[in-house]
Amino acid sequence: MQKELAPSYLKDLKVYQAGKPIDEVARERGLTNISKLASNENPLGPSPYAIREMTRGLWDLHRYPDMHAYSLKSKLAEIYNLKLENIILGNGSEGIMAYIARAFLQPNDEVLTCDNTFIGFYILARSVGAKLKTVSLTEDYRFDVKALAKNITDKTKVVYIANPNNPTGTYITKDEFDFLMEHIPSHVLVILDEAYFEFAVQQEDYPDSMDYRYDNVLTLRTFSKAYGLSGIRVGYGFGHEELIAYLTKVKLPFEPNLIGQLGSVGALEDRPHLERTLKNNTKRYGEIIEYLESKNFKPIKSITNFVTFKTGSREASDYLFDQLLNHGVIIRPLKANEMPDFVRVSIGTKDEMRHFYKAMDEVLPEYDKKFGRV
Ligand SMILES: Cc1ncc(COP(=O)(O)O)c(C=O)c1O
Repeated sequence: MQKELAPSYLKDLKVYQAGKPIDEVARERGLTNISKLASNENPLGPSPYAIREMTRGLWDLHRYPDMHAYSLKSKLAEIYNLKLENIILGNGSEGIMAYIARAFLQPNDEVLTCDNTFIGFYILARSVGAKLKTVSLTEDYRFDVKALAKNITDKTKVVYIANPNNPTGTYITKDEFDFLMEHIPSHVLVILDEAYFEFAVQQEDYPDSMDYRYDNVLTLRTFSKAYGLSGIRVGYGFGHEELIAYLTKVKLPFEPNLIGQLGSVGALEDRPHLERTLKNNTKRYGEIIEYLESKNFKPIKSITNFVTFKTGSREASDYLFDQLLNHGVIIRPLKANEMPDFVRVSIGTKDEMRHFYKAMDEVLPEYDKKFGRV
Protein backbone atom coordinates (compact mmCIF):
# COMPACT_ATOMS: atom_id res chain seq x y z
CA MET A 1 0.00 0.00 0.00
CA GLN A 2 2.76 2.45 0.96
CA LYS A 3 4.37 1.72 -2.38
CA GLU A 4 1.38 3.12 -4.20
CA LEU A 5 1.10 6.11 -1.93
CA ALA A 6 4.64 7.32 -2.52
CA PRO A 7 5.93 8.50 -5.92
CA SER A 8 8.35 6.09 -7.61
CA TYR A 9 11.37 8.38 -7.12
CA LEU A 10 11.09 7.98 -3.33
CA LYS A 11 11.53 4.22 -3.54
CA ASP A 12 15.33 4.18 -3.68
CA LEU A 13 15.95 7.43 -1.90
CA LYS A 14 18.46 6.96 0.91
CA VAL A 15 17.94 8.66 4.26
CA TYR A 16 20.54 11.25 5.33
CA GLN A 17 23.19 9.87 7.68
CA ALA A 18 24.34 12.30 10.32
CA GLY A 19 27.57 12.16 12.33
CA LYS A 20 27.40 9.60 15.14
CA PRO A 21 25.89 11.21 18.26
CA ILE A 22 27.92 11.39 21.49
CA ASP A 23 25.26 9.56 23.56
CA GLU A 24 25.19 6.67 21.09
CA VAL A 25 28.96 6.18 21.27
CA ALA A 26 28.85 6.43 25.08
CA ARG A 27 26.14 3.74 25.16
CA GLU A 28 27.69 1.43 22.58
CA ARG A 29 31.31 1.60 23.70
CA GLY A 30 30.85 2.25 27.42
CA LEU A 31 32.87 5.48 27.31
CA THR A 32 32.52 8.79 29.08
CA ASN A 33 35.20 11.00 27.52
CA ILE A 34 34.07 11.54 23.95
CA SER A 35 35.24 14.07 21.36
CA LYS A 36 32.82 14.52 18.48
CA LEU A 37 34.72 15.66 15.42
CA ALA A 38 32.12 14.49 12.93
CA SER A 39 29.64 17.25 12.08
CA ASN A 40 31.62 20.49 11.63
CA GLU A 41 30.04 22.06 14.69
CA ASN A 42 31.55 24.93 16.69
CA PRO A 43 33.59 23.29 19.47
CA LEU A 44 33.42 26.45 21.63
CA GLY A 45 29.65 26.10 21.87
CA PRO A 46 27.02 28.81 21.47
CA SER A 47 27.67 32.46 22.24
CA PRO A 48 26.72 33.52 25.80
CA TYR A 49 24.62 36.30 24.21
CA ALA A 50 22.67 33.67 22.28
CA ILE A 51 22.14 31.67 25.46
CA ARG A 52 20.93 34.79 27.27
CA GLU A 53 18.40 35.55 24.53
CA MET A 54 17.18 31.97 24.29
CA THR A 55 16.78 31.72 28.05
CA ARG A 56 14.68 34.86 28.02
CA GLY A 57 12.50 33.26 25.35
CA LEU A 58 11.68 30.23 27.47
CA TRP A 59 9.04 32.26 29.34
CA ASP A 60 7.23 33.00 26.09
CA LEU A 61 7.04 29.45 24.81
CA HIS A 62 3.26 29.40 25.11
CA ARG A 63 3.21 31.95 22.26
CA TYR A 64 3.72 31.32 18.56
CA PRO A 65 6.87 32.92 17.19
CA ASP A 66 6.74 36.02 14.97
CA MET A 67 6.11 34.46 11.56
CA HIS A 68 7.92 37.39 9.90
CA ALA A 69 10.89 37.03 12.29
CA TYR A 70 11.17 40.79 12.26
CA SER A 71 14.06 41.13 14.74
CA LEU A 72 16.26 38.52 13.10
CA LYS A 73 15.54 39.68 9.55
CA SER A 74 16.13 43.31 10.53
CA LYS A 75 19.47 42.43 12.06
CA LEU A 76 20.54 40.52 8.92
CA ALA A 77 19.24 43.33 6.69
CA GLU A 78 21.30 45.84 8.64
CA ILE A 79 24.49 43.76 8.54
CA TYR A 80 24.27 42.90 4.85
CA ASN A 81 22.57 46.06 3.59
CA LEU A 82 19.45 44.29 2.31
CA LYS A 83 15.70 44.79 2.41
CA LEU A 84 13.61 42.42 4.52
CA GLU A 85 12.08 41.19 1.25
CA ASN A 86 15.48 39.82 0.20
CA ILE A 87 15.71 37.46 3.18
CA ILE A 88 14.27 34.01 3.82
CA LEU A 89 14.73 32.07 7.05
CA GLY A 90 14.26 28.39 7.65
CA ASN A 91 15.00 25.38 9.79
CA GLY A 92 18.70 25.35 9.00
CA SER A 93 19.96 26.10 5.52
CA GLU A 94 18.71 22.62 4.66
CA GLY A 95 15.23 23.85 5.55
CA ILE A 96 15.61 26.55 2.92
CA MET A 97 16.92 24.01 0.39
CA ALA A 98 13.70 22.11 1.02
CA TYR A 99 11.68 25.27 0.23
CA ILE A 100 13.69 25.72 -2.96
CA ALA A 101 12.96 22.15 -3.99
CA ARG A 102 9.28 22.59 -3.18
CA ALA A 103 8.95 25.94 -4.92
CA PHE A 104 11.06 25.48 -8.02
CA LEU A 105 11.63 21.80 -8.80
CA GLN A 106 9.27 19.31 -10.39
CA PRO A 107 9.81 15.68 -11.38
CA ASN A 108 12.40 15.35 -14.16
CA ASP A 109 13.72 18.90 -13.82
CA GLU A 110 17.45 18.88 -14.28
CA VAL A 111 19.73 19.96 -11.48
CA LEU A 112 23.44 20.33 -12.13
CA THR A 113 26.17 20.05 -9.51
CA CYS A 114 29.40 18.19 -8.74
CA ASP A 115 30.10 14.77 -7.29
CA ASN A 116 31.27 14.64 -3.68
CA THR A 117 29.35 17.59 -2.37
CA PHE A 118 26.79 18.09 0.40
CA ILE A 119 24.57 15.00 0.49
CA GLY A 120 21.64 16.85 2.00
CA PHE A 121 21.21 18.68 -1.29
CA TYR A 122 21.23 15.50 -3.41
CA ILE A 123 18.57 14.02 -1.15
CA LEU A 124 16.31 17.07 -1.30
CA ALA A 125 16.57 17.35 -5.09
CA ARG A 126 15.79 13.64 -5.48
CA SER A 127 12.93 13.85 -3.00
CA VAL A 128 10.93 15.91 -5.49
CA GLY A 129 11.90 13.72 -8.44
CA ALA A 130 14.46 16.10 -9.94
CA LYS A 131 17.18 14.57 -12.13
CA LEU A 132 20.64 15.09 -10.74
CA LYS A 133 23.39 15.58 -13.26
CA THR A 134 26.85 15.66 -11.69
CA VAL A 135 30.36 16.31 -12.96
CA SER A 136 33.57 15.22 -11.24
CA LEU A 137 35.51 17.51 -8.96
CA THR A 138 38.85 18.72 -10.30
CA GLU A 139 41.98 16.71 -9.49
CA ASP A 140 42.55 18.95 -6.50
CA TYR A 141 39.02 18.20 -5.23
CA ARG A 142 37.41 21.50 -6.17
CA PHE A 143 34.16 22.31 -7.97
CA ASP A 144 35.04 22.12 -11.66
CA VAL A 145 33.59 25.31 -13.14
CA LYS A 146 34.65 24.44 -16.69
CA ALA A 147 32.92 21.07 -16.56
CA LEU A 148 29.83 22.66 -15.03
CA ALA A 149 29.73 25.34 -17.73
CA LYS A 150 30.07 22.66 -20.42
CA ASN A 151 27.19 20.66 -18.99
CA ILE A 152 24.60 23.42 -18.80
CA THR A 153 21.86 22.69 -21.32
CA ASP A 154 18.39 24.02 -22.15
CA LYS A 155 17.08 21.59 -19.59
CA THR A 156 19.17 22.83 -16.66
CA LYS A 157 16.95 24.50 -14.11
CA VAL A 158 19.16 24.74 -11.02
CA VAL A 159 22.92 24.74 -10.43
CA TYR A 160 24.08 23.96 -6.90
CA ILE A 161 27.50 25.17 -5.74
CA ALA A 162 28.79 24.58 -2.23
CA ASN A 163 31.46 27.18 -1.69
CA PRO A 164 33.42 26.07 0.24
CA ASN A 165 32.54 22.49 -0.47
CA ASN A 166 31.72 19.88 2.12
CA PRO A 167 33.31 17.29 2.47
CA THR A 168 36.49 18.55 0.76
CA GLY A 169 36.84 22.02 2.34
CA THR A 170 37.94 23.47 -1.01
CA TYR A 171 36.59 26.53 -2.82
CA ILE A 172 36.12 28.21 -6.14
CA THR A 173 37.94 31.52 -6.50
CA LYS A 174 36.59 34.90 -7.58
CA ASP A 175 37.87 34.32 -11.12
CA GLU A 176 36.21 30.92 -11.28
CA PHE A 177 32.94 32.30 -9.97
CA ASP A 178 33.05 35.06 -12.64
CA PHE A 179 33.72 32.42 -15.30
CA LEU A 180 30.82 30.30 -14.10
CA MET A 181 28.35 33.18 -13.97
CA GLU A 182 29.33 34.20 -17.51
CA HIS A 183 28.26 30.74 -18.66
CA ILE A 184 25.04 30.36 -16.70
CA PRO A 185 21.97 31.77 -18.45
CA SER A 186 19.98 34.19 -16.32
CA HIS A 187 16.90 31.91 -16.21
CA VAL A 188 18.90 29.19 -14.40
CA LEU A 189 18.77 29.40 -10.62
CA VAL A 190 22.13 29.20 -8.87
CA ILE A 191 22.11 28.01 -5.27
CA LEU A 192 25.28 29.24 -3.64
CA ASP A 193 25.63 27.32 -0.41
CA GLU A 194 27.95 29.28 1.87
CA ALA A 195 27.50 27.28 5.07
CA TYR A 196 31.18 27.87 5.96
CA PHE A 197 31.22 31.51 4.85
CA GLU A 198 32.61 32.96 8.10
CA PHE A 199 35.70 30.74 7.87
CA ALA A 200 36.10 31.15 4.13
CA VAL A 201 35.76 34.90 3.84
CA GLN A 202 39.20 35.28 5.41
CA GLN A 203 40.66 34.18 2.03
CA GLU A 204 41.37 37.04 -0.32
CA ASP A 205 40.28 35.28 -3.51
CA TYR A 206 37.10 33.79 -2.00
CA PRO A 207 34.03 35.23 -3.76
CA ASP A 208 31.61 36.55 -1.13
CA SER A 209 28.31 36.26 -3.01
CA MET A 210 27.01 39.40 -1.29
CA ASP A 211 29.53 41.43 -3.33
CA TYR A 212 27.79 40.38 -6.57
CA ARG A 213 24.01 40.22 -6.15
CA TYR A 214 22.94 38.43 -9.31
CA ASP A 215 19.16 38.16 -9.69
CA ASN A 216 19.38 34.40 -10.28
CA VAL A 217 21.63 33.58 -7.31
CA LEU A 218 20.28 32.46 -3.95
CA THR A 219 22.85 32.59 -1.17
CA LEU A 220 22.42 30.17 1.72
CA ARG A 221 24.09 30.60 5.09
CA THR A 222 23.61 29.14 8.53
CA PHE A 223 23.88 29.58 12.27
CA SER A 224 24.91 25.92 12.55
CA LYS A 225 28.63 26.24 11.91
CA ALA A 226 30.69 29.29 12.98
CA TYR A 227 27.84 30.60 15.17
CA GLY A 228 27.67 27.35 17.14
CA LEU A 229 23.90 26.92 17.01
CA SER A 230 23.35 23.66 15.05
CA GLY A 231 20.87 22.53 17.69
CA ILE A 232 18.34 25.31 17.14
CA ARG A 233 18.24 24.86 13.35
CA VAL A 234 18.33 28.32 11.81
CA GLY A 235 19.52 29.08 8.31
CA TYR A 236 19.09 32.14 6.13
CA GLY A 237 18.95 32.85 2.45
CA PHE A 238 19.47 36.04 0.46
CA GLY A 239 18.14 36.63 -3.00
CA HIS A 240 16.03 38.69 -5.37
CA GLU A 241 12.68 39.58 -3.81
CA GLU A 242 10.73 37.66 -6.46
CA LEU A 243 12.60 34.46 -5.63
CA ILE A 244 12.14 35.08 -1.92
CA ALA A 245 8.40 35.71 -2.43
CA TYR A 246 8.01 32.26 -4.00
CA LEU A 247 9.95 30.61 -1.21
CA THR A 248 7.77 32.40 1.33
CA LYS A 249 4.68 30.87 -0.28
CA VAL A 250 5.85 27.32 0.43
CA LYS A 251 7.52 28.08 3.76
CA LEU A 252 6.04 26.72 6.96
CA PRO A 253 4.85 29.91 8.69
CA PHE A 254 6.48 29.47 12.08
CA GLU A 255 9.96 28.39 11.06
CA PRO A 256 12.36 29.18 12.55
CA ASN A 257 10.92 28.69 16.01
CA LEU A 258 10.90 31.26 18.79
CA ILE A 259 14.09 30.08 20.49
CA GLY A 260 15.85 29.86 17.13
CA GLN A 261 14.97 33.43 16.22
CA LEU A 262 16.12 34.80 19.59
CA GLY A 263 19.34 32.79 19.75
CA SER A 264 20.32 33.86 16.24
CA VAL A 265 19.91 37.55 17.05
CA GLY A 266 22.07 37.05 20.14
CA ALA A 267 24.72 35.25 18.09
CA LEU A 268 24.88 38.05 15.52
CA GLU A 269 25.45 40.57 18.30
CA ASP A 270 28.39 38.64 19.75
CA ARG A 271 31.28 39.46 17.44
CA PRO A 272 33.92 38.51 20.06
CA HIS A 273 32.56 34.94 20.18
CA LEU A 274 32.86 34.66 16.43
CA GLU A 275 36.42 36.05 16.62
CA ARG A 276 37.33 33.46 19.27
CA THR A 277 35.84 30.75 17.07
CA LEU A 278 37.85 31.82 14.03
CA LYS A 279 41.03 32.16 16.06
CA ASN A 280 40.69 28.68 17.55
CA ASN A 281 39.95 27.28 14.12
CA THR A 282 42.97 28.87 12.45
CA LYS A 283 45.33 27.69 15.18
CA ARG A 284 43.95 24.14 15.37
CA TYR A 285 43.85 23.87 11.57
CA GLY A 286 47.60 24.56 11.38
CA GLU A 287 48.20 21.92 14.04
CA ILE A 288 46.10 19.15 12.48
CA ILE A 289 47.72 19.69 9.07
CA GLU A 290 51.13 19.47 10.70
CA TYR A 291 50.11 16.33 12.61
CA LEU A 292 48.63 14.53 9.60
CA GLU A 293 51.60 15.39 7.39
CA SER A 294 54.00 14.21 10.08
CA LYS A 295 52.20 10.85 9.85
CA ASN A 296 52.53 10.91 6.07
CA PHE A 297 48.87 11.51 5.34
CA LYS A 298 47.97 14.03 2.65
CA PRO A 299 45.21 16.30 3.95
CA ILE A 300 43.22 18.29 1.39
CA LYS A 301 43.81 22.01 1.91
CA SER A 302 40.66 23.36 3.53
CA ILE A 303 39.33 26.86 4.25
CA THR A 304 36.65 25.56 6.61
CA ASN A 305 36.42 24.02 10.08
CA PHE A 306 37.17 20.48 8.91
CA VAL A 307 39.93 18.54 7.19
CA THR A 308 39.58 15.57 4.85
CA PHE A 309 42.38 13.12 4.16
CA LYS A 310 42.93 10.01 2.11
CA THR A 311 43.21 6.60 3.70
CA GLY A 312 43.34 4.78 0.39
CA SER A 313 40.47 2.34 0.79
CA ARG A 314 37.02 1.86 2.24
CA GLU A 315 38.43 -0.79 4.60
CA ALA A 316 41.11 1.58 5.89
CA SER A 317 38.54 4.35 6.45
CA ASP A 318 36.16 1.99 8.26
CA TYR A 319 39.00 0.63 10.39
CA LEU A 320 40.23 4.08 11.38
CA PHE A 321 36.70 5.27 12.17
CA ASP A 322 35.96 2.21 14.28
CA GLN A 323 39.26 2.17 16.16
CA LEU A 324 39.04 5.88 16.94
CA LEU A 325 35.54 5.28 18.31
CA ASN A 326 37.07 2.81 20.78
CA HIS A 327 39.17 5.73 22.01
CA GLY A 328 36.15 8.03 22.22
CA VAL A 329 36.88 10.05 19.08
CA ILE A 330 34.14 10.35 16.47
CA ILE A 331 35.27 11.24 12.95
CA ARG A 332 33.34 10.94 9.70
CA PRO A 333 33.85 8.21 7.11
CA LEU A 334 32.78 9.48 3.68
CA LYS A 335 31.15 6.46 2.02
CA ALA A 336 27.87 8.33 1.66
CA ASN A 337 29.71 11.12 -0.19
CA GLU A 338 31.17 8.52 -2.54
CA MET A 339 34.62 9.17 -1.11
CA PRO A 340 34.99 5.86 0.75
CA ASP A 341 38.78 6.10 0.67
CA PHE A 342 38.78 9.36 2.66
CA VAL A 343 37.78 10.42 6.16
CA ARG A 344 36.83 13.85 7.48
CA VAL A 345 37.78 15.35 10.84
CA SER A 346 36.11 18.48 12.23
CA ILE A 347 38.30 20.94 14.06
CA GLY A 348 37.70 20.87 17.81
CA THR A 349 39.06 22.57 20.90
CA LYS A 350 42.71 22.18 21.92
CA ASP A 351 41.74 19.33 24.27
CA GLU A 352 39.58 17.56 21.71
CA MET A 353 42.39 17.72 19.15
CA ARG A 354 44.85 16.35 21.69
CA HIS A 355 42.42 13.50 22.27
CA PHE A 356 42.34 12.87 18.51
CA TYR A 357 46.17 12.92 18.18
CA LYS A 358 46.61 10.60 21.16
CA ALA A 359 44.00 8.18 19.81
CA MET A 360 45.63 8.30 16.36
CA ASP A 361 49.07 7.63 17.89
CA GLU A 362 47.64 4.53 19.53
CA VAL A 363 45.71 3.30 16.50
CA LEU A 364 48.26 4.00 13.78
CA PRO A 365 50.86 1.23 14.48
CA GLU A 366 48.25 -1.49 13.85
CA TYR A 367 46.62 0.55 11.06
CA ASP A 368 49.99 0.84 9.32
CA LYS A 369 50.55 -2.90 9.46
CA LYS A 370 47.20 -3.48 7.79
CA PHE A 371 47.02 -0.62 5.30
CA GLY A 372 50.23 1.41 5.16
CA ARG A 373 50.01 4.70 3.27
CA VAL A 374 48.85 5.67 -0.20
C1 LIG B 1 27.67 22.60 2.65
C2 LIG B 1 26.60 22.50 3.69
N1 LIG B 1 25.40 23.05 3.44
C3 LIG B 1 24.42 22.99 4.33
C4 LIG B 1 24.55 22.33 5.52
C5 LIG B 1 23.38 22.25 6.44
O1 LIG B 1 23.44 23.16 7.43
P1 LIG B 1 22.19 23.53 8.33
O2 LIG B 1 22.49 23.04 9.68
O3 LIG B 1 22.11 25.01 8.25
O4 LIG B 1 20.98 22.90 7.75
C6 LIG B 1 25.76 21.72 5.83
C7 LIG B 1 25.93 20.98 7.08
O5 LIG B 1 26.78 20.19 7.27
C8 LIG B 1 26.81 21.81 4.88
O6 LIG B 1 27.99 21.23 5.11
